[in-house]
Amino acid sequence: MTRIRIAITGGHGQVARAMAALGPAMGVDVIPVGRPELDLADPASVFPALASARPHAIVSAAAYTMVDKAETEKDLAFSINAAGAGAVSTAAARLGAPVLHLSTDYVFDGTKAGRYVEADPTGPTSVYGASKLAGEQLVAAATGNHAIFRTAWIYSPYGENFLKTMLRLGETRETLSVVDDQRGCPTSAEDIARAMILAARRMVEDRNARYRGVFHLAGSGEASWADFACAIFRAAEMYGRKPVTVLPISSDRYPSPVRRPGNSRLSGEKLGRIYGIALPHWRQSTEKVVDGLLGRAGCEALVCEERS
Ligand SMILES: NC(=O)c1ccc[n+]([C@@H]2O[C@H](COP(=O)([O-])OP(=O)(O)OC[C@H]3O[C@@H](n4cnc5c(N)ncnc54)[C@H](OP(=O)(O)O)[C@@H]3O)[C@@H](O)[C@H]2O)c1
Repeated sequence: MTRIRIAITGGHGQVARAMAALGPAMGVDVIPVGRPELDLADPASVFPALASARPHAIVSAAAYTMVDKAETEKDLAFSINAAGAGAVSTAAARLGAPVLHLSTDYVFDGTKAGRYVEADPTGPTSVYGASKLAGEQLVAAATGNHAIFRTAWIYSPYGENFLKTMLRLGETRETLSVVDDQRGCPTSAEDIARAMILAARRMVEDRNARYRGVFHLAGSGEASWADFACAIFRAAEMYGRKPVTVLPISSDRYPSPVRRPGNSRLSGEKLGRIYGIALPHWRQSTEKVVDGLLGRAGCEALVCEERS
């Protein structure tokens, strides 16, 4: 089997870092391509930056991800998440490489009773969701050789995310109020990264149309943010952290300029049926990430980071 080269946009993002960490063990070369060489707000920079990586496949992960701030930075969010994503897809077409584009559960309005499937009507309730939906459309228009993976509630040992925020707040707080009326699928960046590598390999090796189109890619199970917080604190207790009590609250008690979907649970049935990929349960992956951060290996890494 040829060793494939996968370029991923957004070198410091959660998924990009997880993919770079997993690539060697999975027998692929992962080449992060980020700013300043590739700036999605400057479409002219996209093709040369990706071409220099000579990729067999491109994972389009970079995005404007500040959901609240996007409400006041609409033009910037659209230039990155829509026009920028379209430029990545156009570049992929010129390079003859499949593009695997990451999108979001926030393309839905959250009013459906059950899990969302790929064919469900979209209806974003935020600028961020609308910009990502516009990105999906431009990615699809630029090349048929695309797969769009909608994912959700990403957490990892990297960057900023809900899990790390809870661990930080848990150091000083005995109780925390957490929203309990939004339900979704917490998804580990490492689990996404593994799926991206498997899917990229499949798309490179097999031109069949069944591997193209829209797929939902999310951790198994479901949770509210309050459930997720409880699981994080229970896992942290295994490493000597003191217990934190989670007080469930409704979204209207949490100040935000954005109305997030009450239900953004994604069905992974199509991904399982077509690609044979099923992500682990979010509780299992949450324990793994907490172990990575608070366990022996995590503490040693933190000490190293502090020393360097
Ligand atoms: N985070 C979530 O909960 C979530 C949920 C659903 C879907 N998604 C989608 O999943 C994907 C990956 O998310 P993530 O959490 O890994 O993202 P992330 O950690 O927020 O990283 C975003 C990356 O995008 C890069 N970026 C931002 N503006 C850019 C620009 N103008 N040009 C080039 N790069 C730019 C950033 O670059 P710098 O490193 O230079 O800042 C960063 O590396 C995104 O497409 C996101 O929309 C995320």
